[in-house]
Amino acid sequence: MTNVLFVCLGNICRSPMAEAIFKNLVAKAGLQDQIQVDSCATSSEEEGNPPHPGARKVMAAHGLDYSYMHSRPITEQDFNWADYIITMDNQNVFNLTQMAPAADRNKIHLCLDILPDNRGQEIPDPWYTHRFEYTYQVLQSALPAWLDKITG
Ligand code: 4NP
Repeated sequence: MTNVLFVCLGNICRSPMAEAIFKNLVAKAGLQDQIQVDSCATSSEEEGNPPHPGARKVMAAHGLDYSYMHSRPITEQDFNWADYIITMDNQNVFNLTQMAPAADRNKIHLCLDILPDNRGQEIPDPWYTHRFEYTYQVLQSALPAWLDKITG
Protein backbone atom coordinates (compact mmCIF):
# COMPACT_ATOMS: atom_id res chain seq x y z
CA MET A 1 0.00 0.00 0.00
CA THR A 2 1.23 3.48 -0.88
CA ASN A 3 -0.27 6.40 1.03
CA VAL A 4 -0.45 9.83 -0.59
CA LEU A 5 -1.29 12.93 1.44
CA PHE A 6 -2.03 16.30 -0.16
CA VAL A 7 -1.49 19.31 2.08
CA CYS A 8 -2.22 23.03 1.82
CA LEU A 9 -2.81 25.86 4.28
CA GLY A 10 -6.56 25.56 4.81
CA ASN A 11 -7.53 22.17 3.30
CA ILE A 12 -10.57 23.79 1.69
CA CYS A 13 -9.24 24.83 -1.76
CA ARG A 14 -6.11 23.26 -3.24
CA SER A 15 -5.56 20.03 -1.31
CA PRO A 16 -9.21 18.85 -1.50
CA MET A 17 -9.15 19.38 -5.28
CA ALA A 18 -5.84 17.50 -5.48
CA GLU A 19 -7.27 14.67 -3.37
CA ALA A 20 -10.37 14.38 -5.57
CA ILE A 21 -8.40 14.52 -8.84
CA PHE A 22 -5.82 12.00 -7.64
CA LYS A 23 -8.47 9.59 -6.31
CA ASN A 24 -10.10 9.74 -9.73
CA LEU A 25 -6.78 8.95 -11.46
CA VAL A 26 -6.15 6.07 -9.05
CA ALA A 27 -9.65 4.68 -9.66
CA LYS A 28 -9.29 4.98 -13.45
CA ALA A 29 -6.02 3.05 -13.20
CA GLY A 30 -7.75 0.38 -11.05
CA LEU A 31 -5.28 0.97 -8.23
CA GLN A 32 -7.68 1.67 -5.33
CA ASP A 33 -6.38 -1.40 -3.50
CA GLN A 34 -2.80 -0.19 -3.75
CA ILE A 35 -2.90 3.58 -3.28
CA GLN A 36 -4.72 5.45 -0.49
CA VAL A 37 -5.28 9.19 -0.81
CA ASP A 38 -6.10 11.83 1.79
CA SER A 39 -5.65 15.56 2.37
CA CYS A 40 -5.19 17.89 5.33
CA ALA A 41 -4.11 21.38 6.37
CA THR A 42 -1.04 22.97 7.93
CA SER A 43 -3.40 25.20 9.93
CA SER A 44 -6.56 24.61 11.96
CA GLU A 45 -8.08 27.81 10.52
CA GLU A 46 -10.80 25.97 8.57
CA GLU A 47 -11.09 22.86 10.76
CA GLY A 48 -14.37 21.03 10.22
CA ASN A 49 -15.36 23.08 7.18
CA PRO A 50 -16.28 21.56 3.81
CA PRO A 51 -14.36 22.60 0.68
CA HIS A 52 -14.76 26.26 -0.39
CA PRO A 53 -17.87 26.83 -2.55
CA GLY A 54 -15.61 27.65 -5.51
CA ALA A 55 -13.74 24.36 -5.12
CA ARG A 56 -17.03 22.48 -4.73
CA LYS A 57 -18.34 24.02 -7.95
CA VAL A 58 -15.25 23.02 -9.93
CA MET A 59 -15.17 19.49 -8.49
CA ALA A 60 -18.87 19.04 -9.27
CA ALA A 61 -18.32 20.32 -12.83
CA HIS A 62 -15.65 17.65 -13.29
CA GLY A 63 -17.75 14.88 -11.75
CA LEU A 64 -15.62 14.56 -8.60
CA ASP A 65 -17.10 13.64 -5.20
CA TYR A 66 -16.35 16.01 -2.32
CA SER A 67 -19.39 15.19 -0.16
CA TYR A 68 -17.35 13.46 2.57
CA MET A 69 -14.65 16.12 2.85
CA HIS A 70 -13.98 18.47 5.74
CA SER A 71 -10.85 20.35 6.69
CA ARG A 72 -8.53 18.94 9.33
CA PRO A 73 -5.06 19.88 10.49
CA ILE A 74 -2.17 17.47 9.94
CA THR A 75 -1.17 15.26 12.88
CA GLU A 76 1.97 13.37 13.81
CA GLN A 77 0.15 10.20 12.75
CA ASP A 78 -0.27 11.62 9.22
CA PHE A 79 3.48 12.09 8.86
CA ASN A 80 3.94 8.46 9.80
CA TRP A 81 1.07 7.22 7.57
CA ALA A 82 2.09 9.04 4.41
CA ASP A 83 4.63 7.82 1.90
CA TYR A 84 4.28 11.00 -0.16
CA ILE A 85 3.32 14.38 1.29
CA ILE A 86 2.53 16.55 -1.72
CA THR A 87 2.24 20.26 -0.97
CA MET A 88 1.11 23.29 -2.88
CA ASP A 89 3.56 26.10 -2.09
CA ASN A 90 6.86 26.94 -0.44
CA GLN A 91 5.15 28.10 2.76
CA ASN A 92 3.53 24.65 3.05
CA VAL A 93 6.96 23.02 2.62
CA PHE A 94 8.47 25.33 5.24
CA ASN A 95 5.66 24.75 7.75
CA LEU A 96 5.61 20.99 7.25
CA THR A 97 9.39 20.74 7.51
CA GLN A 98 9.15 22.48 10.88
CA MET A 99 6.38 20.13 12.06
CA ALA A 100 7.59 16.80 10.66
CA PRO A 101 9.44 14.22 12.69
CA ALA A 102 13.00 14.19 11.32
CA ALA A 103 12.56 10.73 9.81
CA ASP A 104 9.58 11.91 7.73
CA ARG A 105 10.99 15.16 6.29
CA ASN A 106 12.09 13.47 3.08
CA LYS A 107 8.44 12.65 2.30
CA ILE A 108 7.62 16.34 1.73
CA HIS A 109 7.41 17.40 -1.92
CA LEU A 110 6.32 20.50 -3.83
CA CYS A 111 3.59 19.39 -6.26
CA LEU A 112 4.99 21.09 -9.37
CA ASP A 113 8.52 19.72 -8.83
CA ILE A 114 7.31 16.60 -10.65
CA LEU A 115 7.13 18.56 -13.93
CA PRO A 116 10.65 19.32 -15.24
CA ASP A 117 9.52 22.64 -16.76
CA ASN A 118 7.72 23.79 -13.60
CA ARG A 119 10.16 22.93 -10.82
CA GLY A 120 10.00 25.28 -7.86
CA GLN A 121 6.69 26.77 -8.94
CA GLU A 122 3.64 26.92 -6.70
CA ILE A 123 0.03 25.84 -7.21
CA PRO A 124 -1.91 29.14 -7.34
CA ASP A 125 -4.17 29.56 -4.32
CA PRO A 126 -7.74 30.31 -5.44
CA TRP A 127 -8.46 31.62 -1.93
CA TYR A 128 -6.61 34.69 -3.22
CA THR A 129 -6.96 34.41 -7.03
CA HIS A 130 -10.61 33.25 -7.11
CA ARG A 131 -9.59 31.23 -10.18
CA PHE A 132 -10.69 27.77 -9.03
CA GLU A 133 -10.91 26.24 -12.51
CA TYR A 134 -7.37 27.41 -13.36
CA THR A 135 -6.01 25.84 -10.17
CA TYR A 136 -7.87 22.64 -11.05
CA GLN A 137 -6.18 22.66 -14.47
CA VAL A 138 -2.71 23.19 -12.99
CA LEU A 139 -3.27 20.30 -10.57
CA GLN A 140 -4.62 18.17 -13.42
CA SER A 141 -1.42 18.88 -15.39
CA ALA A 142 0.85 17.64 -12.60
CA LEU A 143 -0.96 14.81 -10.83
CA PRO A 144 -0.74 12.15 -13.59
CA ALA A 145 3.06 12.51 -13.36
CA TRP A 146 2.87 11.82 -9.61
CA LEU A 147 0.86 8.67 -10.28
CA ASP A 148 3.49 7.61 -12.83
CA LYS A 149 6.27 8.19 -10.31
CA ILE A 150 4.46 6.33 -7.54
CA THR A 151 3.58 3.36 -9.74
CA GLY A 152 6.79 3.50 -11.78
P1 4NP B 1 -6.13 26.45 0.69
O1 4NP B 1 -6.63 27.97 0.61
O2 4NP B 1 -4.87 26.46 1.53
O3 4NP B 1 -5.86 26.10 -0.73
O4 4NP B 1 -7.25 25.64 1.31
C1 4NP B 1 -6.79 28.77 1.76
C2 4NP B 1 -7.82 28.51 2.62
C3 4NP B 1 -7.99 29.30 3.76
C4 4NP B 1 -7.11 30.34 4.00
C5 4NP B 1 -6.05 30.58 3.12
C6 4NP B 1 -5.89 29.78 2.00
N1 4NP B 1 -7.28 31.15 5.14
O5 4NP B 1 -6.53 32.14 5.28
O6 4NP B 1 -8.16 30.86 5.97
